Amino acid sequence: MLAATGSAVGLGNIWKFPYITGENGGGAFVLVYLFCIAAIGIPIMMAEVMLGRRGRQSPVNTMAYLAKEAGSHKVWKYLGWMGVVAGFLILSYYSVIAGWATAYVFRAASGVFVGQTADGIGSLFNDLISDPEKLLAWHTIFMVSTMLVVSRGVTHGLEKAVRFLMPSLFILLLVMVGYALNSGSFSEGVDFLFTFNFDALTAQGVLIAMGHAFFTLSLGMGAIMVYGSYLDKEISVAKTSMGIACADTAVALLAGLAIFPIVFASGLEPGSGPGLIFNTLPIAFGQMLGGTFFGTLFFVLLVFAAWSSAISLIEPLVAWLIEKKGMTRIRASVWSGMITWVLGIGTVLSFNNWAENKIYGMTFFELVDFLTANIMLPLGGLLIALFAGWVMKREHSKDELAIGSTLWFQLWLFLVRFVTPIGVIVVFLNALGLF
Ligand code: TRP
Repeated sequence: MLAATGSAVGLGNIWKFPYITGENGGGAFVLVYLFCIAAIGIPIMMAEVMLGRRGRQSPVNTMAYLAKEAGSHKVWKYLGWMGVVAGFLILSYYSVIAGWATAYVFRAASGVFVGQTADGIGSLFNDLISDPEKLLAWHTIFMVSTMLVVSRGVTHGLEKAVRFLMPSLFILLLVMVGYALNSGSFSEGVDFLFTFNFDALTAQGVLIAMGHAFFTLSLGMGAIMVYGSYLDKEISVAKTSMGIACADTAVALLAGLAIFPIVFASGLEPGSGPGLIFNTLPIAFGQMLGGTFFGTLFFVLLVFAAWSSAISLIEPLVAWLIEKKGMTRIRASVWSGMITWVLGIGTVLSFNNWAENKIYGMTFFELVDFLTANIMLPLGGLLIALFAGWVMKREHSKDELAIGSTLWFQLWLFLVRFVTPIGVIVVFLNALGLF
């Protein structure tokens, strides 16, 4: 459970959630996101954990094995495959953003935020993202260190670290919210996050909210299946899944509560995009007592959170290369890391040299993010729900879920059979303008 929480809590909660909430008008977006977590995310997480627990192999092989067990077609193994591809696509940009966070560890430690105005903080950020060489260097550092951990298979060490890093991150976010409480614009921030203004929400926004429910819980690509395969027989899948979802959501909401008051107090634009946390939190670190210490610690913890997520993004590819291509773990890690790194260069350039080169109105980074978070993950989740609800034998799913009560099992089955698939399809059609 700790390891899965380490996968779920990452840049998605602290970097992505606030900026997409800002871009999509606030409250109504948050409400749709919370609804998707509860009605779609939790049932699919239970399904993924359950499939992983029964399959006990890498996602591709788990799906192949379970399809065979259920007497179904082996085409289901392509579901595992799509997960492999989605994971490495996501990591290609995730690593670039994690690189920004790494750069900010050093910036915070150097005390450069102290006494800066919002403008000063903004131009510090622009200096970073407009320089492709710097971005490439930080992307490389993050990618190499991730692959070192993956190649040595020392993820257990990282899991131990997660045990105290996650609570520390949580406490530090509380400190930041405490600061925001006194910043003068706390209620504006709260209003923005929790006043449901549905006029501000588009069909595209609903799709982004649903996509983010998958992204933030690490669902739809088999990452959570891997953790399910390590789960002891007696442990309740439902309780574990709900615990992870609650912790994950709490971190995201705290990040929002820490950031938006600063946005309003400093007259910044909520919809200013992926730089939002880097343009806001340093203002607070520059002003608060002990800000250099808290700022450094915050970005260190953010980098660790990104690390434990990055590992779960690349592990399916590495596992597949080892199982199917007979590579050693080290060789598989080097190859996976290299192709991810090369693809990440597209994201590096999206913020500077290629900023004006758009495909369907999106930069390279936006396109990769859109395809993965808003298309591939919900599609993967849909197929997982259909498999768990319709293909797998009931006695098997009931047994693996270890849910105890029949009533709860029926509720879960109803959710994965009907609510989740119909929900995903309606949101897709709605975003295409067909609904
Ligand atoms: N959930 C992580 C975050 O919020 C990102 C992540 C890790 C992820 N593994 C994943 C997203 C698998 C989708 C699928 O930062």
